[in-house]
Amino acid sequence: MVMSKFIDADQQNKLEYFRKQIVGLDKKVPLLDGSLKRYISLDNAASTPCLKPVLDKVDEFLDWYSSIHRGSGFKSLLSSHVYDLARQIVGEFVGVDLRTNAVIFTKNASEALNKSANRFPFGDDSIVLSSLMEHHSNDLPWRKRAKVIYAEVDKYGVLDLDDLERKLKKHKGKIQLLALTGASNVTGYVNPLHQIASLAHRYDAKIAVDAAQLMSHRPLDMKSDNDPEHIDYLIFSAHKMYAPFGTGVLIGPKSTFQQGGPEHVGGGTVELVTLDEVQWTGLPDKEEVGSPNVVGAVALAEAIKILKEIGMETIASHEKKLTQYAMKKLGSIKDVIIYGNQDYDENRLGVIPFNLNEFHHGLVSTILSYEAGIGVRHGCFCAHPYVNRLLGTTEEESIKLRGEIKKGNKTNLPGAVRISFGFYNTEEEIDQLIEALERISRREYKEKYKLDEKLGEYLPEDFSFDYKKYFDF
Ligand SMILES: Cc1ncc(COP(=O)(O)O)c(C=O)c1O
Repeated sequence: MVMSKFIDADQQNKLEYFRKQIVGLDKKVPLLDGSLKRYISLDNAASTPCLKPVLDKVDEFLDWYSSIHRGSGFKSLLSSHVYDLARQIVGEFVGVDLRTNAVIFTKNASEALNKSANRFPFGDDSIVLSSLMEHHSNDLPWRKRAKVIYAEVDKYGVLDLDDLERKLKKHKGKIQLLALTGASNVTGYVNPLHQIASLAHRYDAKIAVDAAQLMSHRPLDMKSDNDPEHIDYLIFSAHKMYAPFGTGVLIGPKSTFQQGGPEHVGGGTVELVTLDEVQWTGLPDKEEVGSPNVVGAVALAEAIKILKEIGMETIASHEKKLTQYAMKKLGSIKDVIIYGNQDYDENRLGVIPFNLNEFHHGLVSTILSYEAGIGVRHGCFCAHPYVNRLLGTTEEESIKLRGEIKKGNKTNLPGAVRISFGFYNTEEEIDQLIEALERISRREYKEKYKLDEKLGEYLPEDFSFDYKKYFDF
């Protein structure tokens, strides 16, 4: 597939062509009135759909697929070669020096973050500096290994760089690592990573960047090892990059993973085993226990190729336009509260959290799904402290809520509705969302919905989808 001939095409032609590269975009989904409607995914921050060229490449590769590493047959040799090539493509995409750094494949970003935490050479009394805008996967793993402190965010949820530096200065020598998100999965705010990397290094800390949210939206260069702006560890996930085949990535200095034994032990991680001695193998195999996900790596490498062909700048500019358009339209609906700073759009991905005043966030997203065929997400988006900060939840409310949740009642779970764009979304899709939200705000939705206390979810009364009609084994 040659994308480049479309680079000069006008914006509309390009968008139409890009949309044709997405699997399942024309799929119609059932609504509760019995009709079918073309599905609109505004939940790309959770997972993006698959790219057709990725699916085609996986299909092409499966003819050659075989066990890798020790297999001596041609298919094994080719599969091993392809797996290594995928690693190289991933490394080159982020400009890392592959002589000194390892590209380790994992199952997803959460597993990669856990591995980073488990393998980082912490000393006694080490501190990890993180921030209040983190996904739980870039918070909880560190808590298991060190004391974690958090840089503040301002009233809009933007990272407070002064507070970050204050903390780096105050705990110099103890903060060994700054673990920071590349972009928030709640507000879409992008952190100035190179400026922050430089700060971290000035105070003798390393920096690990959770780029799960960033990678399919903005270009990112880890820079050379001796550059003060170098990113030491980078983590991301293929299912948010149009390649949902179960692959995550952890890139970091070989020296980190060379010391000690691997995180998980077993086949593939050893050079030699006797009944009383084990010699670990080299990197990256040492950190990829068992049979690796070669198909996932092929998918990710192809997705990277396509993202590069489209151009990360083209993607960023299209998504920025969509975000500005959606902000304006959302802002015009009576009773919509948009969280974050509506005027701050330079360093922001297409991720917008909002609420429709008195309507529960769960009710809004359920109606959007069942009556408009629009997929969004609601709740706290695996970032409870950040969302509570944005919502202004008081300590008293928070304590009351904890008590209710302990008793299995999720009725009052705070949260918001989140829409998030990919490079293939259109203004027309945003118009459909706005229309549906306006109908909800006028209480013109059709069905009665009831709240399931235990799930904290709204469901239509006396209705359920017959999933077997759409997919079965
Ligand atoms: C910022 C951020 N970090 C980490 C994760 C976890 O990614 P994964 O689902 O690949 O483990 C997500 C997923 O939503 C995320 O948005």
